[in-house]
Amino acid sequence: MFALRIIILITLIVPLNYDLCSCQCAHAEYEIHKQCCPMCAPGNRVHWHCTDDTSTTCVPCPSLTFIDEPNGLMECFPCTVCDASRGLRVNKVCTQSSDTVCGPLERFYCIEKKKGSCTLAVQHSECSPGQYIKQAGTGSTDTVCADCTGDTYSNGSFSSCLLHTKCEALGLTETNPGTHSSDTKCGNPSTAVAIIAPSVIVTLILILVIIVFIIKHIRKKKQSKSSGIQVCSTFYMKEKVKQSLFTMF
Ligand SMILES: *[C@@H]1O[C@H](CO)[C@@H](O)[C@H](O)[C@H]1NC(C)=O
Repeated sequence: MFALRIIILITLIVPLNYDLCSCQCAHAEYEIHKQCCPMCAPGNRVHWHCTDDTSTTCVPCPSLTFIDEPNGLMECFPCTVCDASRGLRVNKVCTQSSDTVCGPLERFYCIEKKKGSCTLAVQHSECSPGQYIKQAGTGSTDTVCADCTGDTYSNGSFSSCLLHTKCEALGLTETNPGTHSSDTKCGNPSTAVAIIAPSVIVTLILILVIIVFIIKHIRKKKQSKSSGIQVCSTFYMKEKVKQSLFTMF
């Protein structure tokens, strides 16, 4: 029984192997219908398989398709599309004999590759305020950020931390102390004038208003005095009229 099994196995495997193995065909040949046909060159596909009297008939791949190896294929492969939504752009356009090569978009870096072409890219990280760009991102690496230390600052987009401005050295006064993310703010004499000037103007206007008020008040007093004289005079006239009336009767 055991020997029979072995014989069955051998009779099954040997022809199967023989069939699977295209070793019977030469290196630049492919096997079809138990016959060896010459392969088509890269950039071409098989149009007609070879026969006993004719060689393989090959045709170039149509546009947007390719085959990058010697082959016995009836169809070309579609060219890869570099998808912007995956952070990709075309690095090398597709030809009949080579697929598109995709690369990361500007300010993106590749995190997935296949056969030397990028298949997924993500945006470089941005440094936070208080950090500087220690190493700018590349097509394959992310940005490297580092913290500002000591008397320096960066808004996150500087390639190094900058020293805080020294207001005193500029003959100015410090109005806001610097932080790791912002520079010192200095105030100069002209800003001092800008602060004082309005209050001076307000005071002047107030004084003017008071003066006008006083002048008006004085005028009113004068008027009431003169109208008092008028009253007196009318009274005086009435008395005179009375007197004259008396003298008439
Ligand atoms: C940082 O400062 C630079 C120059 O002052 C400016 O161009 C840039 O937009 C700033 N970046 C941020 C993130 O605020």
